[in-house]
Amino acid sequence: MEVVILETAEIGARFVADAVVRVLRRDPRAVLGLATGSSPLLVYAELVSRCKQGEVSFAGATVFLLDEYVGLPVGHPQAYATVIDTVLTGQVDLPAGAVHGLDPTATDVPAECSHYEESIRSAGGIELQLLGIGRDGHLGFNEPGSSLGSRTRLKTLTHRTREDNARFFDAGGEVPRHVLTQGLATISEARHLVLLASGGSKADAVAAAVEGPVAAICPASVLQLHPHVTVVLDAPAASKLRLHDYFRETYAAKPAWQDI
Ligand code: GLP
Repeated sequence: MEVVILETAEIGARFVADAVVRVLRRDPRAVLGLATGSSPLLVYAELVSRCKQGEVSFAGATVFLLDEYVGLPVGHPQAYATVIDTVLTGQVDLPAGAVHGLDPTATDVPAECSHYEESIRSAGGIELQLLGIGRDGHLGFNEPGSSLGSRTRLKTLTHRTREDNARFFDAGGEVPRHVLTQGLATISEARHLVLLASGGSKADAVAAAVEGPVAAICPASVLQLHPHVTVVLDAPAASKLRLHDYFRETYAAKPAWQDI
């Protein structure tokens, strides 16, 4: 696991956008896994701007979303399918049909979840998966207690996550209780996981995920089992890491030829 501590969320966003651009230049048909929530918003704004300037194209890419609320009307502004369209995919040159998300209206939920996993597999798997982290250490919508071997399925949100996400719903009603999410084992099949966190409110979750025991109580600790993980933090989000100084020194001394 590589932990990169950058001074601000803006610098971190440019750093992650650079990585996405490199993936698309290396393989214009790359499969990207995208998260929603506030953490990746600056990355998406940066990618939209670079695409508009002709620096990168998404024309051959495929996107899979990480998770989705159950029970919102189709097209609800807080449905993750709508959010990603608003902040990224609807603003770049991705062709129609290249963005895949879990269908929260499916009547046969287990079948929808299996079908989603099969779609990821038949697309060749996810090359780069962007992730945020919840204050309780959740990854996607895998709440504490999620099996580290979990697959895509229905989950029930904790009160804390519903409270955290209520800020997006102020004018739009209640945060749904149920969600569909890629499982922790599903997420772990992506070839490169890039987790982005900023702000002191994430410091405990980041420390537990990066340095705590690998345990279902902190779902993001599953990252420790993956061979290729990059954790991009601003200074406040990194403030509770015991290896904080070592991570900074390591990144400062990183060989120029080495990608993240
Ligand atoms: C949300 C999402 C996650 C996200 C996390 C953190 O509930 N389901 O994918 O990474 O919680 O959210 P934020 O980035 O807004 O802090």
